[in-house]
Amino acid sequence: MKINDVLGLNSRNHLYTSVYNTRIGKKIANSKLKTKKVLRHEGVRVPKSYAVIRNQEDLERFDFLTLPNDFVIKPDNGLGGQGIIVVERGGMYAGEWVTSQGTVMNVEDLKLQIADILAGQYSMDDLADVAYVEERVRVHPVFAKYSYHGTPDIRVIVFNMVPVMSYVRLPTEESGGRANLFQGAAAVGIDMATGITTYGVHHAKPTDFFPGSRRKLSGIQIPQWDDVLETAIKAASSVGLGYMASDIVLQPDDDPEKPSTPMILEINAQPGLKIQIANRAGLRERLERIKGLKIKDAKHGIRIAKALFADPKLMEKGLGRKAVGAYEDVEVWGNNGERRVVRAKIDTGADSSSIDKTLAGELGLLDTDNFLYNTHFESALGRTMRQVVGIRYVMAGRKMKSRVSVAERSKVKYKMLIGKRDLKDFVIVVD
Ligand SMILES: Nc1ncnc2c1ncn2[C@@H]1O[C@H](COP(=O)(O)OP(=O)(O)O)[C@@H](O)[C@H]1O
Ligand SMILES: [Mg+2]
Repeated sequence: MKINDVLGLNSRNHLYTSVYNTRIGKKIANSKLKTKKVLRHEGVRVPKSYAVIRNQEDLERFDFLTLPNDFVIKPDNGLGGQGIIVVERGGMYAGEWVTSQGTVMNVEDLKLQIADILAGQYSMDDLADVAYVEERVRVHPVFAKYSYHGTPDIRVIVFNMVPVMSYVRLPTEESGGRANLFQGAAAVGIDMATGITTYGVHHAKPTDFFPGSRRKLSGIQIPQWDDVLETAIKAASSVGLGYMASDIVLQPDDDPEKPSTPMILEINAQPGLKIQIANRAGLRERLERIKGLKIKDAKHGIRIAKALFADPKLMEKGLGRKAVGAYEDVEVWGNNGERRVVRAKIDTGADSSSIDKTLAGELGLLDTDNFLYNTHFESALGRTMRQVVGIRYVMAGRKMKSRVSVAERSKVKYKMLIGKRDLKDFVIVVD
C-alpha cells in the first residue's frame, strides 16, 4: 500500500463526503431511526423496532413486560457503540433480563439507562436524544467462533453505486457485545471478489487470530456475499448518499437450512478510515478508479467491484477465485476409479455442464448408482430427453462435485462443456 493510495481525513471530507453527499442524506444518516424509516420504506431490511421512547412521559408509560426475552436498547443519535445495551435472554424472574456482558438488569435498571440516553449522555451533539428498543440480531453460525457474546457487523463502503471496500467487525470480551473498534472489537478485511476475510486488526495492530484465541481470522467466507453487497448499494441509493458506509448484520433464520436476512443496522456518511488497515489497501486509489463510471444497477456495481477490487494476495494463496480460460484441461474421476484428462470448453451460455455419452460410458458415469434423473433439454434440434449423472472432476486445482447432462458429442471437438453452475467460484480469463 503506497502512502498516496491511503485516504486521509481531510481528503475524505473535501473530495468525497462534501461533494457526493447531500445535506438531507447526512441528516438521515445522523439518526438511526430516520435511517430505518427511509430504508424500510424503500424495501431494505432493518431490525424490527419494538418501542421508541422520546421523553420522560413515554418512559413512565412504557410497559417493559411486553418486551420479548432478547432485545437491544439504543440511542438514536449515538456512536461508537456507546449507550447500547444488548439483552440476550430473560432472567430468573419476570422483569429481569441478562445482557451480553452477563449482567442481570431489572426494569429500574433499564429505565435508568434510557433516562441517560434521553438526557443526551451518549448523543453526538450532547442534546436531548431519543431511545429505542429493537429486535436483537443473533450471531450467524459462521461467526460463532469469532465473536464473544455479540453480533458482528459487516461494513461496506459504497461510492457511486459500487461497493469499494469492506470489513467485518467482531465483538470481543472487551467490547461488551458491540462490534465497535473503539470498544475493543477486532476487525478483518474482506476480499471484494469472493467475500473471504483477509487481514485481521485489533487495536490498530495487525493480528492473525481472534483476540485471546488461536482461531485464524483469515479465510472466513461471509455468507450471502452478493446479497450483502446488494443491500449496501440499495441503502446508498435509498438515502441518496454518493459516498457512505452501511453496517450490515445477518439475522440467521430459525431454520438452519434457510439463508439469513441481511439487515442494515446503521449507515455512516463519514465512515472511518481504519478499514484501509484491515484491507492493506488504500481507499483513494479505489475511489479514483470508479469516479465518473456510469453504473446501471446494483448487479452492475457488484460486477465492477469484483473485477476491480479482488485482493491480489488472496489470489496468490489460492484462497480467492481460481482463473480458468476459454478451454481447460480437467481431470474427470470415473465411477470405476479411472482418472481421465479431458479438454473442456468453458460455456457461460449454458446453465449446467454436459459430457459426451461415449466418454461418460467409458468412465462408468452411466452406471445406475450414478444416475440422478432425466431432464428435458431444448436445443436447435428440438426437445430431447437427457440423463443427468453425478460427476467429480478437478478444474484449475479445485475439486468439483457436480452433475452433468449426458449428450451425443462424438462428432464435436470438446467432449465436455462446463456451464455456469460449475463456474461460480472461478473467474474466466480470456486472452
Ligand atoms: N439490533 C441489534 N442486534 C444485535 N446487536 C446489535 C444491534 N444493534 C447494535 N448492536 C451491536 O452494537 C454495535 C453498535 O451498534 P450501531 O447500531 O452500529 O451503533 P453505533 O453507531 O454506536 O456504532 C453493533 O455493531 C452490534 O454489535
Ligand atoms: Mg456502528
